[in-house]
Amino acid sequence: MPKLIVVTREGEEREVEGEVGLSVMEVIRDNGFDELLALCGGCCSCATCHVHVDPEFADKLTPMSEDENDLLDSSSDRDDRSRLSCQIQFTSALDGLKVTIAAED
Ligand code: FES
Repeated sequence: MPKLIVVTREGEEREVEGEVGLSVMEVIRDNGFDELLALCGGCCSCATCHVHVDPEFADKLTPMSEDENDLLDSSSDRDDRSRLSCQIQFTSALDGLKVTIAAED
């Protein structure tokens, strides 16, 4: 299974395996990272699954929708690496992707 590297808010880095077909949010949540709240369950309506994504993988990610872009605008921690992890489909092309859980708003 492809690997995902998750960096917590405290800077702790852990490599986990992710099932292809899940969202990056589901991979993070299923591996026990409680700080990624993902309150809406992946419906693109809460922004509590906000992560910063390794720019090396930018062109391999599911493109950002207008709804995702609008929701990210509500976060004070938004930068040009920001994505909602529930909107990124995890694929084998993302093997080794590093995501950092964004600060809580
Ligand atoms: S889980 Fe709510 S927007 Fe991603």
